[in-house]
Amino acid sequence: MSGHGTPIPMTSRRATALKGEAHVPGDKSISHRALILGAMAVGETRISGLLEGEDVLDTAKAMQAFGAEVINHGGGEWSVFGVGVGGFAEPENVIDCGNSGTGVRLIMGAMATSPITATFTGDASLNKRPMARVTDPLALFGAQSVGREGGRLPMTIVGAADPVPVRYEVPVPSAQVKSAVLLAGLNAPGQTVVIEREATRDHSERMLAGFGATIATETTDEGRVITLTGQPELKPQVIAVPRDPSSAAFPVCAALITPGSDVLVPGIGLNPTRAGLFYTLQDMGADLSFENPREEGGEPVADLRARYSPDMKGIEVPPERAASMIDEYPVLSVVAAFATGTTMMAGVKELRVKESDRIDAMARGLRANGVSVDEGEDWWSVEGCGPDGVKGGATAESFLDHRIAMSFMVMGMGAQNPVSVDDGSPIATSFPIFERLMGDLGANLSRDNQ
Ligand code: S3P
Repeated sequence: MSGHGTPIPMTSRRATALKGEAHVPGDKSISHRALILGAMAVGETRISGLLEGEDVLDTAKAMQAFGAEVINHGGGEWSVFGVGVGGFAEPENVIDCGNSGTGVRLIMGAMATSPITATFTGDASLNKRPMARVTDPLALFGAQSVGREGGRLPMTIVGAADPVPVRYEVPVPSAQVKSAVLLAGLNAPGQTVVIEREATRDHSERMLAGFGATIATETTDEGRVITLTGQPELKPQVIAVPRDPSSAAFPVCAALITPGSDVLVPGIGLNPTRAGLFYTLQDMGADLSFENPREEGGEPVADLRARYSPDMKGIEVPPERAASMIDEYPVLSVVAAFATGTTMMAGVKELRVKESDRIDAMARGLRANGVSVDEGEDWWSVEGCGPDGVKGGATAESFLDHRIAMSFMVMGMGAQNPVSVDDGSPIATSFPIFERLMGDLGANLSRDNQ
C-alpha cells in the first residue's frame, strides 16, 4: 500500500526521442470489477491480464476476507472461486483498501445488502475522501454506516438483513457511486434502478450482463436509466482485461511532447465512456491515430500510435466530455503546457475529490515549473508555452496521487530542465511497470534517493 512506505523522490530529464511499443497493464476499473463480480458468482471465474497494481491487489485481498478464494497463477492469470450473491462471509478484520476509492466504494456496495458488518480503512489520501456519496444510497437499501466526521474512513457498514430495492438518481457524475448501487442491488429483491444524468464508465453494466444478470439501460430525458433485477445467480466468466486507456495516456502524451518520438501502444480499451482524452488530443492537433480497431472481451480495443506533435493548439475541452476523461486531466494539462494558446477545462469539479485535489496539485506543480494556470472551483486553464517553451527545473508534490506523479514525470521528458516529484511511490497503485516501460521507450527517469 502506498503512503506508508518511504517516499521515492524521482526526476525526469529531457529525453531525445521515445520509440518503440508500450505494453501498458490491464484496466484498473475492469480489474476491480472482475474480482468483485467473480467473488459474487458461483464457481470459478478466470481472469487474464489483471492489473497487478496495489489498488487491485487490495481488492483481491478484500474478496478473500469476504470468503471468496482468489488464486494468482502468475503472469496476470487469476482465478476467483465465488461465494454467490448474498454469500459473503463477515470479515474477521478491518478491510484496508489502500489508496483505492474504486475498491472501497464498490466493495461497500457489494456487502451492504448482506447481514454482515465490515470496517473499511485506507491510506492518508483515501481516508480524506468523501464516502457519504456511497453510504447515502446504501442507507436506502437498509444498510447503516458509522464513519468519521464528514463521512470519512475508517468507517463501519452494517449490511441490511432485509434489503429493499431502490430507485436512485446519482447526484454527481460518478461510476463508483453508480456501481456501488448496482452491486448492492444484486442482493435486494425486485428491481433496483439507477439514473445518471451524464454517462459515466459503463464497465459494471457490461460485466453484470456478461455474468448473466438481467440489466437494461435506457437513454431518456432524465439521462441513462439502468434497471437491474436483484438476486440473480451470477455465472462465472472467463475475462480478458483490456489494457488501460488511463495508463496508455502517459506514453501517448509523452510521445506527443518529446521531439522525434514515435510510439505504438497496442491493445488499448477504447470504451466510449473512457476514450475522451484521445479525441481531445486529436482536436488539439496531435498526431495520434487508432490502428487495427477490434473487439476484445466485450470492449472496443485499438492500437494507438502517437508521434511528436509540435503544432498542438490550446482548445476548450467540451465539458460534456469530462466524465469520459476524468482521470486524464492531469496529463492533459501537461500536454496543454507544450501547446500554443490556452486550454480551458470546465465542468471538472470532481477533480477536487480524487486521490488528491487534482486541480490544486497540478496547478502548484505547473506554476513551479514555469507554466501559468488559472483556476476556479470547477474549471482551470493552462497557458501553453509552445513546443519548446516549458522551463521545468522544479520539484512538484505528488500528494499521494499516482496520476500527479506520472504527469510530472511526463513533463520532464519535454521540458528544458529536469522535473522532479517528491514522491513517486503512489505510481505502484495503478502502473507498477511505469519506470521500466518509459525507460525502454527512451525516457530518462531516475530515483533520487538511490
Ligand atoms: C472509476 C470511476 C472514476 C475514476 C476512477 C475509477 C471506476 O471515479 O476517477 O479512477 O472504476 O468506477 P468517480 O466514480 O469518483 O468519478
